Parts: sequence; C-alpha cells; structure tokens
Amino acid sequence: MSESKKGGIFSRRGLLGIGWFSFIVSMVGPALANIRFLFPNVVYEPPSRVKLGKPEEYARGSATFVEDQRFYLFRDGEGFRAISAVCTHLRCTINSFGPADAEYGEPHAHCPCHGSVFAQKDGRVLKGPAPVALEIYEVGLAPDGRLVVDTARRVDAGFRFRV
Ligand code: FES
Repeated sequence: MSESKKGGIFSRRGLLGIGWFSFIVSMVGPALANIRFLFPNVVYEPPSRVKLGKPEEYARGSATFVEDQRFYLFRDGEGFRAISAVCTHLRCTINSFGPADAEYGEPHAHCPCHGSVFAQKDGRVLKGPAPVALEIYEVGLAPDGRLVVDTARRVDAGFRFRV
C-alpha cells in the first residue's frame, strides 16, 4: 500500500488540512493588521506644556524644582525663567542650585554623576564633562492665569517672562 493510502501528510485529508490552515492564516493575519490600524501610533511621552501655579504663588527669589519634568522655575526681579535640570552630559538630574562659593563665583549646581557644574544665571557649563549649557524653556501664561512651561521650546539665556 502506498504512503498516500495510509493517511500520511500527503493524503487527501492531510492536504485538505494544510489548505484550511493556510486559508485561515491568510484571513486572520490581515484582519489583525486591520484591527491594529484602527489604533493610532501615539507616543506616550509626558506633554511638553506643563501647567504650574499662578504667578503670585511664587515669591521673588524663589526656585521651584518640578520633579516630574526635571526643570527649575526661577523667579527673580525681572520675571520667570525655567531651566532644565537634565545634565547635558549623560542626562542625570543635577543637584539644586547653591550660592556662589570660593571655587565658583556665582550660584551654580553640580551634577552628581560625573561632576559637571552649571551656572544658575544662564545654565552655561562652568566645569565639564558636560559639553553644552542647560536648556532654557519658554515660560508663558495659560488662559486661566497659571504659568505654563513648554519644554519643547528653547529660549535664550536672557529670556524672562514678565507678569
Ligand atoms: S551626567 Fe552629568 S556630568 Fe555626566
């Protein structure tokens, strides 16, 4: 008796099974792809615009660390400015800004990872290995009167938002 008459893989029933399996795969695959197409490709990153409190909630001379977005909001006599707390070397979060000392004659912050030092005034590098200054973000006012920091918009070091 030959192999096909014994009911092996090349028997009529075996070939029919392979045919049905292929048919089902060819139907289900595109159907799954079409279902996936219904869901947009969304980047699940934090939004770049961060709403904070009202301007009067921040005293002159204050420094507020916004932890989840890793930036500092400063208010000085000229206005508000937001400066990134992300080290430009390997993206560690820098320590809080401290006063001038004997080594650095102006307020500054240290990066705990490899020792970079940044100036509070404009984020510039006082000591490497960080290659470039900290980013400075645009500050504005939302329609409800609260401050908004947009971490996707960079501004010059001299930027101040005046209210
Ligand atoms: S990550 Fe800040 S100095 Fe390396």
